[in-house]
Amino acid sequence: MIFTVAIDGPAAAGKGTISRAVAARFGFAHLDTGALYRAVGVKGGDPVAAANGLTPEDLSRDDLRTLEAGLAASRVAVIPEVRAALLDFQRRFARREGGAVLDGRDIGTVICPEAEVKLFVTASAEVRAHRRWLEVGGDAARVLAEVRERDDRDMNRADAPLKPAADAVLLDTSGLGPEEAIAQAIALVQAQMPG
Ligand code: CDP
Ligand code: CDP
Repeated sequence: MIFTVAIDGPAAAGKGTISRAVAARFGFAHLDTGALYRAVGVKGGDPVAAANGLTPEDLSRDDLRTLEAGLAASRVAVIPEVRAALLDFQRRFARREGGAVLDGRDIGTVICPEAEVKLFVTASAEVRAHRRWLEVGGDAARVLAEVRERDDRDMNRADAPLKPAADAVLLDTSGLGPEEAIAQAIALVQAQMPG
């Protein structure tokens, strides 16, 4: 079965939490596409060369989830040649046999416009920054500023900007805990499953 679930949205909206749960529930493979951009961002040197030569080791570094890695990712993510270098891998992953969940910024719009289910997960910037602050700690005002800076760069870039696909279902998780958000996403996927 070929079946793609595209989950897009801004930083710390809950995309990864929902994606992992949907993948586990339906036995689909999951790709966190943000990790690709984070790995390119932290590798240093020429970002286009880094994107063309990403290795499994680059993707398993334990410093990919830092605020700095997120900012570095959003800076290399504006470069069209970087996005182009990562495109085929993501497209093939999306249409692999057995079903796939991909989360990122442009899955429903660019990577897999034919996805069977498209979710655009959002929450207010304050709620998202608070969630990220609970994970990384430090100065809460700085976490909020960095979330806003990244959202701004992601929404305003020319190539594959962050925006909901015309046929995406919007899921605002501002007032939802992870379990409620997961339940809504699973119900949406279930409704589109064949048979
Ligand atoms: O992948 P993304 O950056 O969009 O977000 P995430 O890593 O799934 O979620 C960021 C944090 O928010 C995690 O610690 C989640 O447990 C938490 N979260 C939440 O509190 N409520 C939700 N509805 C979803 C996620
Ligand atoms: O987990 P969080 O939402 O904070 O970030 P992420 O999904 O790991 O993405 C990090 C950065 O990579 C984003 O801010 C985007 O600039 C970039 N990205 C992208 O441009 N396209 C994607 N499909 C995924 C991430």
